[in-house]
Amino acid sequence: MSKIFASLKSIGAYAPKNILSNKDLEKMVETTDEWIVQRTGIKERRLALENELTSDIGLKAAKLAIERAGVSTGEIDAVICATLTPDFLCMPATACIIASKLGIKNVLAFDVSAACSGFVYILYLAKSLIESGVHKNILLIGAEKLSSVVDYTDRSTCILFGDGGGAAVIGSTKYENEAIMDIRISADGDYAHLLSAPRSRVTHPKDNKTLEYLQMAGNEVFKVAVKTLTNDVVEILQKNGITADKIDHFIPHQANLRIIEAVREKLNFPHEKTVLTVQKYGNTSAASIPMAMNDAYEEGRIKHGDLILLDTFGGGFTWGSALLRFGGQ
Ligand code: COA
Repeated sequence: MSKIFASLKSIGAYAPKNILSNKDLEKMVETTDEWIVQRTGIKERRLALENELTSDIGLKAAKLAIERAGVSTGEIDAVICATLTPDFLCMPATACIIASKLGIKNVLAFDVSAACSGFVYILYLAKSLIESGVHKNILLIGAEKLSSVVDYTDRSTCILFGDGGGAAVIGSTKYENEAIMDIRISADGDYAHLLSAPRSRVTHPKDNKTLEYLQMAGNEVFKVAVKTLTNDVVEILQKNGITADKIDHFIPHQANLRIIEAVREKLNFPHEKTVLTVQKYGNTSAASIPMAMNDAYEEGRIKHGDLILLDTFGGGFTWGSALLRFGGQ
C-alpha cells in the first residue's frame, strides 16, 4: 500500500477592517511612530469590533480556506483551533463554535493553547492524524482577538499586538511533492513567567479581577526568541538535508521585524524569499503564520509544490518549525 502524506491544500485569512496606526497610539501612550517602526517594524495593526469574537474572525478565514481547498464542509472530519483568546476561557472550545457556525457536526473539534506557536502545533497534530489514515480533511484555524487582553495604557506591549485569523485545510495525498515533510515542536515552561496572559481564577481564586492583561518582559523574550528561532531552523534543515538556498518561501512568526531580520541574516535567507506582514498586522499570535502565508498566496508568490519553511516562537515558551511543499493550487 502506498504511503499517505498530509498536504496543506489551501490557505485563507481574515483581517478586521479597523486599523490602529502608530499615529493613533501616539495619542494613547507616550510613544512615537519613529520609535515603534525602529524597534519593531510595525506601522499599523487591525482591531476587531467589540462584538466581533475570535470565532467570528476564525470563521471568515475558515470559509475562505474551505472554498479554496475545493472540499465541502461535509468532508471536513476534524476542526482544530489554536488561540490564546478563545471566546470562552474554558469551554466550549472556539473550534466547536466555528464548526457549528459552519454546519460541521459530529467530528473531532478542540482548541490548542500554544500561544504564537499555535498554528505550527496544530499543523503537527493534523499531519499525524492524516498520516495515521484516520482523518482525510482537517480544518485548522489560528485566530486571535488580542485587543481583548492588551493593556492600552502599557506602551511596551500595546504597540505590538493586533487581531486577525488564518486557516488552512490539511488533506491526504499520495504525492510526496505536495506533502508536509517535517515538523519540529517544543516547549520549555521554565520561561512561563516572561510572557503570560491573562491569569485565571485557578491561580488567583480570591481575585475577581480575572481579566488581567498580557504581561511580557520584552527584552528577555527578544533574546531567547532570536536564539531559539535560529537554532530551530538550522536543525530542521540539517535533519532533512536541505540547504537554505532550496527554500522558496521563509515564513517566520511575525512578532518583530528585528527578530525576523536577525534570524534571516544568520541563516542567509534572501530578503525577497522572506514573507513579511508584521508592518501591517503587528503580532497576531496563532494567526500570524497563516495570515502571512495567505498574503503571499494572494500576491501570487506561492505556487503548488513550492518549498516553504515556517518558524515560530511564543509564550510558554513554545516554539517550532515546519518544512512543507504547498499543496494548494
Ligand atoms: N515608546 C517609546 N519608548 C518605549 C516604548 C514605546 N512604545 N516601549 C518601551 N519604551 C522605552 C522603555 O521604557 C525603555 O526606556 P528606559 O530606557 O528609559 O527604561 C526603553 O524604551 C527601552 O526599553 P526596552 O524594553 O529595552 O526596549 P527594546 O529595544 O527591547 O524594545 C520591545 C522593546 C518590546 C519592542 C522588544 O523588546 C521586543 O519586541 N521584544 C520581543 C517581543 C515579542 O516579540 N514578544 C512576542 C514573542 S512571540
